[in-house]
Amino acid sequence: MNTQVIDTSAIQALDITVRHQKFMFDGLPKFYYENNPYMSYLLSILSLTFPEGERMFVHSVRAVRDQVTDPVLKKEISAFIGQEAVHGNVHETFNSFVQKDLGLRTQKYEKEIFNRIKYAKEKISKKNLLAMTCGFEHLTAILGEHMLTHPEEFAGLNPIVRPMWFWHALEETEHKAVAFDVYQHLYADDKTRLRIMKIVTRIFIVRIMSMTTMMLLKDKKSRFNVRQNAYGLYRITKIARAISANYQEYFEPGFHPNNRDTRALTKQWRERLFPSGDEQGTAVDYAA
Ligand SMILES: [Fe+2]
Ligand SMILES: [Fe+2]
Repeated sequence: MNTQVIDTSAIQALDITVRHQKFMFDGLPKFYYENNPYMSYLLSILSLTFPEGERMFVHSVRAVRDQVTDPVLKKEISAFIGQEAVHGNVHETFNSFVQKDLGLRTQKYEKEIFNRIKYAKEKISKKNLLAMTCGFEHLTAILGEHMLTHPEEFAGLNPIVRPMWFWHALEETEHKAVAFDVYQHLYADDKTRLRIMKIVTRIFIVRIMSMTTMMLLKDKKSRFNVRQNAYGLYRITKIARAISANYQEYFEPGFHPNNRDTRALTKQWRERLFPSGDEQGTAVDYAA
């Protein structure tokens, strides 16, 4: 689980910008989402999956990049790898803060995630691993688009971590088509892609929800807080309902991530998160 060294100096492919980010989390309370344990655990578990998960995405694209001949797509691959590498590093720092400073005992889950991904990288074919990446990238893209479109839903997120989550949402939206384009360029096998998407969705929902529930059950103070936990579940269900139509598009004939034109949305968020215009500076809280 080593931090990656990233050389992204020459990368600026199309609308995909690699932004080196370093966030400070001092002063962040344990329950940083509306003081709600369920939602805060959920986000911490989600963050826990990112470093190894995103390195797996990079691994799957890197494994086939030599077969890509399209020069634009090659540039996009470099930018995709750069963005995901920074995400992995930032979330690794956040995860270590969560463990050391907030006292969340997530090491067991971290190890489990690491082992499962190691197994996937060793045992799954290049094509299927890339199809998995396409599936996960669709999930992160629709969650990202939802956040950027409905920031009011995340007003309860502590401002210390809000820029990190919104910066990540922005970049997931920017690079949403890269893995898909690589897959189509090399394989264009919709049957496999859709079959794997169903597996990916199941893994994502079952693992995230079960780890979150286990975190909550271990928390003697919070586990019986019926009102707060019911509210957390209500929020999660609301988000799931809001993104379900976007999710389903993946299964429609002629699907392409860019069928949803999000360029105006990402432009707006680049300006909100980097109002000085310096996108290598640290993202600011949009509500500040
Ligand atoms: Fe990412
Ligand atoms: Fe991504």
